[in-house]
Amino acid sequence: MAKNTLSFVCQNCGAAYNRWQGKCESCGEWNTLAEEDTTGSVPVSIRSKRKGRTFALESLSGKSPDAPRLSSGMAELDRVTGGGFVRGSVLLVGGDPGIGKSTLLTQATSLLARAGHRVVYISGEEAVAQVRLRAERLGLSDAPVQLAAETSVEDIVSTLSEGAVPRLIVIDSIQTMWTDTVESAPGTVTQVRASAQALIRFAKKTGAAIILVGHVTKDGQIAGPRVVEHMVDAVMSFEGEGSQQFRILRAVKNRFGPTDEIGVFEMTGLGLREVTNPSELFLSERDLGTPGTAVFAGIEGTRPVLVELQALVAPTSLGTPRRAVVGWDPSRLSMVLAVLEAHCGVKLSGHDVYLNVAGGLRIHEPAADLAAAAALVSSLVNAQLPSDAVYFGEISLSGVVRPVAQTPARLKEAAKLGFQRAVLPESARGEAGGDAGLSLNAINSLTTLVAEIAARGSRRGESSGSAEKSAEKNATPARFRRGEG
Ligand code: TYD
Ligand code: MG
Repeated sequence: MAKNTLSFVCQNCGAAYNRWQGKCESCGEWNTLAEEDTTGSVPVSIRSKRKGRTFALESLSGKSPDAPRLSSGMAELDRVTGGGFVRGSVLLVGGDPGIGKSTLLTQATSLLARAGHRVVYISGEEAVAQVRLRAERLGLSDAPVQLAAETSVEDIVSTLSEGAVPRLIVIDSIQTMWTDTVESAPGTVTQVRASAQALIRFAKKTGAAIILVGHVTKDGQIAGPRVVEHMVDAVMSFEGEGSQQFRILRAVKNRFGPTDEIGVFEMTGLGLREVTNPSELFLSERDLGTPGTAVFAGIEGTRPVLVELQALVAPTSLGTPRRAVVGWDPSRLSMVLAVLEAHCGVKLSGHDVYLNVAGGLRIHEPAADLAAAAALVSSLVNAQLPSDAVYFGEISLSGVVRPVAQTPARLKEAAKLGFQRAVLPESARGEAGGDAGLSLNAINSLTTLVAEIAARGSRRGESSGSAEKSAEKNATPARFRRGEG
């Protein structure tokens, strides 16, 4: 008989200790250790001392039964999964409570069921009536989805083993599942891990695709079972600002597809609507004519996305000025600010700096450097940037504007949305081709851009009769301070 092993398991990362301690040495979190009985964390069938059976080894080149993908009928969802749900694969969808995970999956399962596939939706959080209510609201009550409110993994597996293999199974959520093979309470790391293991085994054995819904903690990690992330084939996170209607589905890990694709949705009274042209959405509420905004021509996965960057540079009343950024990497902002100070003579140490990516999008590309710099300088000198211009380019520590990938795609999207000019790296001009239909302002160094924007600021100033110096001189600190008044 196995010895009873009580241990303390970190509920954040799953590390186990044999005595309690305040801080988890593995992930550094405080107060995350909980006592768990890990006797049975390995299923009985694996613990037994039976002699191993032999199996055939195969070659890499052999033919595999085709891994057909099951298209969900939602193009934005398929884009993120890499073309649909792969047979036998397990996908984890994480997101804040109330962001719309259940709504998204109700819609996807209904579309599949209507297309004639056997689709099962297991809700561990809501009663059948509540799920029905949602489906009714979405106008999907007629879809032949098989529904149950269950939390026992053994019961679920036995039920689903009967009849035709379901093509897709949704488990909403993995934190509510529990299995007999371990003795910890539901929701603990051990339980979540063992439940996920059992479901993954079922998926691999039968070829059914499984979607696990996972909750996320305050800091955006999928709660508890970080370990589950390593076990599943794909991890998607469903994000969005509570106050805004946009929702972005992002692939964090994907064994069968790209990880940089995003799917964009809009939460409406009738559920999630797919947004096929995100640029139009992100630019729909532009503040035309306000200093401090610049349109960035970005790439998300394979798709160009235009989005507005908004900056506010204001004199600070604090000893250490504030730097706040939403939707972009704070260290990237610090770098751009440092380059502006060191190479372009822009003094920002007496100013608070705020940068926001409109629409709740989160940008990961360094190509946003140039647009961010343009927005910052525009706010500082209180000069509006041309509203028909897009910006992209990476800024190096020496202040040189460096080329970025996919210039033609960025320009094409900008032209499609009616932009007239693009500010881009000098070295990307050749790549751009002459056919984009935009007038190109190719710049080599950030100083040039700063001088150009400062000149706009001074022209505004001149018309109101307050200044009349050359553009070059405008790039001096004193001038910047005066410009923003
Ligand atoms: P839900 O899918 O239950 O979120 P999750 O499963 O991620 O916790 O979505 C809940 C929110 O979505 C709720 O605040 C109401 C909103 N919602 C709509 O705006 N329109 C709709 O048609 C539906 C079904 C929900
Ligand atoms: Mg839910």
